[in-house]
Amino acid sequence: MPDNSERERIRELQEELREHSYRYYVLNDPVISDAEYDKLLRELEELEEKHPDLRTPDSPTQRVGAPPQDELGEAPHKFPMLSLQNAFNADELREFDARVKRNLGMEEGDTVEYSVEYKIDGLGISLTYRDGLLERGATRGDGHVGEDVTQNLKTIRSIPLRLADVEGRPSECEIRGEAFISKDEFSRINQDREERGESPFANPRNAAAGSIRQLDSSVTARRNLDAILYDLRTEESTRYKTQAGLLEFLGQLRVRTSKPYQVIEGMGGIEEMIEKWAEDRHDLPYDVDGMVFKVNRLDLRPELGAVSRSPRWAIAYKFQAERAETTVKDIMASVGRTGAVTPIAIMEPVFIDGTTVSRASLHNMDEVERKGVRIGDQVIIQKAGDIIPEVVEVLTDKRSGDEKEFEMPSQCPICGGEVSRAEGEVVHRCQNPACRAKLKGRLEHWASRGCMDIDGLGPAIIDQLIESGLVEDIPDLYRLEHEQLVQLERMADKSASNLLRAIDGSKHRPLDRLINGLGIRHVGDHLAQVLAREFGSLDRLKDASVEDLASVYEIGEVVARAIRAYFEDPEIRRMLQDLKEVGVEPEETEPAGSQEHPFITDKVFVFTGELERWTREEAQALVERYGGRATSSVSKKTDHVVAGPGAGSKLDKAEKLGISVLSEEEFVEALGEHGDVEIPEPE
Ligand code: IVH
Repeated sequence: MPDNSERERIRELQEELREHSYRYYVLNDPVISDAEYDKLLRELEELEEKHPDLRTPDSPTQRVGAPPQDELGEAPHKFPMLSLQNAFNADELREFDARVKRNLGMEEGDTVEYSVEYKIDGLGISLTYRDGLLERGATRGDGHVGEDVTQNLKTIRSIPLRLADVEGRPSECEIRGEAFISKDEFSRINQDREERGESPFANPRNAAAGSIRQLDSSVTARRNLDAILYDLRTEESTRYKTQAGLLEFLGQLRVRTSKPYQVIEGMGGIEEMIEKWAEDRHDLPYDVDGMVFKVNRLDLRPELGAVSRSPRWAIAYKFQAERAETTVKDIMASVGRTGAVTPIAIMEPVFIDGTTVSRASLHNMDEVERKGVRIGDQVIIQKAGDIIPEVVEVLTDKRSGDEKEFEMPSQCPICGGEVSRAEGEVVHRCQNPACRAKLKGRLEHWASRGCMDIDGLGPAIIDQLIESGLVEDIPDLYRLEHEQLVQLERMADKSASNLLRAIDGSKHRPLDRLINGLGIRHVGDHLAQVLAREFGSLDRLKDASVEDLASVYEIGEVVARAIRAYFEDPEIRRMLQDLKEVGVEPEETEPAGSQEHPFITDKVFVFTGELERWTREEAQALVERYGGRATSSVSKKTDHVVAGPGAGSKLDKAEKLGISVLSEEEFVEALGEHGDVEIPEPE
């Protein structure tokens, strides 16, 4: 039993952390440092660990750590989530205003009061609160049924797990708005992805959509999403009478709301706003793609109703993406780490949206042909999602006849190796495994922070090492000598020693970092961890068959084949052998199958539904430790299905196939009958 002071402390910490979160994420006005916040959070975690019964679902500790799901459940909306009609110019807005007046039986000379907000370029979400507690979070889906993404939305710190207890708070309501990724976060995420050799997201919207529909909420948590809410739906009566009042009320409930918003009068007000806000929008820290005008009085809305899924009381005015005209001076073939050869348009620099643009990726030959871009063309470019420049149109009537078509070189511009495109792929690749561009990318990736973390081994030095012929592959790094390094330009005695020390210090990094560092296609930091845990050593991973790989939870057929193909390459096998010889030996990971258990060893398990003692990952690790396998889908090869509450189609399938189905308690009993497996207490 917790004593009263601990119970009191838990309550106090929850309250305090909630307040700090609100100040930081909603008001943007923190009063304590991140370190102080983390310290309080840790204290709360420890206390709750000791007294799990005091860990309430709205505790600030409950934002992360939910087990990954097999699939996203369905989330029917109580009130349909409509979309908005678009307007692209003042005339279309004028028609909207006239229509509103007509439908309300007003005279042409009358004025309607509107509220205006920015249209945030994110993903529509709906949050259900009951008695103030966040019960469910959903995507828009088809407007009637969305996907249940509660765990993922809980990671968004500006979304309260509990609404403030203010007068008039409905006992049940759906609060709606937009989840998004800020411009800064977007750059950080993409930089990170590029460093790891993963393809960057095209724009913040795609990044947000991908993050929200994750099965594993720890991935969502790393993306630092944010949310702005602008609507509240309830069957209960409300005190506010206008959209402006609704937004104020949402603010009192302590959610982050649309800001700025403004109440304006009629078409005159609308025209003023589209001028002003189109300018101001560049100062916002997130992308907006327009502004939304809404009839301010809520009682008029039912009167106006909706047509074809859009309400007649609101309209979205869409901003033109900023565009500019320029000349394509050249099209270059650029070679990346995986050998992909990408055509890049080099343009006469132009200023768009606050930055100078001179390059735009044309992605691949299919794109070049589809767009019809030639060297010397006049083109219109725009910033997609306001960030990445793209060629949107070729001004063919401005051609002089001197324009030249781009041809994909048959030889790599860097190493002269053969460039070709595999069947069914759109990307051309340099086929020379020793290509210098690939080598450079490989070395940079190997040395990067998430991999072997070699301080001081940056792009400039890597260039020098390759140019001088000192390094032809990763293992050569570990053969470098002091005398060789000091002969390089600008390499002082001390820097040489530091670099050698850093290289040497990277020899025994954890296995997952080494796997990540190899730069296997499709394998980033997360899958590297999965592989390290499953196989425990590089040798075991190297010899795993496609079937072994594909049976791992989270690894599909395509990725399994890519991994197998990587390790089958004789050059790669030689390189791995060399790495061993120069002393690169990753830290031991507790390998799967290191112990035996008669109920587990060599058996295939599927875990489904909620477990009380383990997270899905822990259960999987347990089975693997004793030489069993945990897979994500039920097949004839499955030996046991362990099903907790909420198990769905997997349970049905197991029953159909006549496979043994155990409850969690039965599984615990089977474990306990033999050996010394450690069984945690239920949560
Ligand atoms: S009001 C009946 N206000 O734009 C729909 N929507 O194409 C009422 N959006 O589905 C929506 N910012 O996801 C509204 N300030 C804002 C918005 C906004 C972004 C999104 C929303 C909606 C889509 C319409």
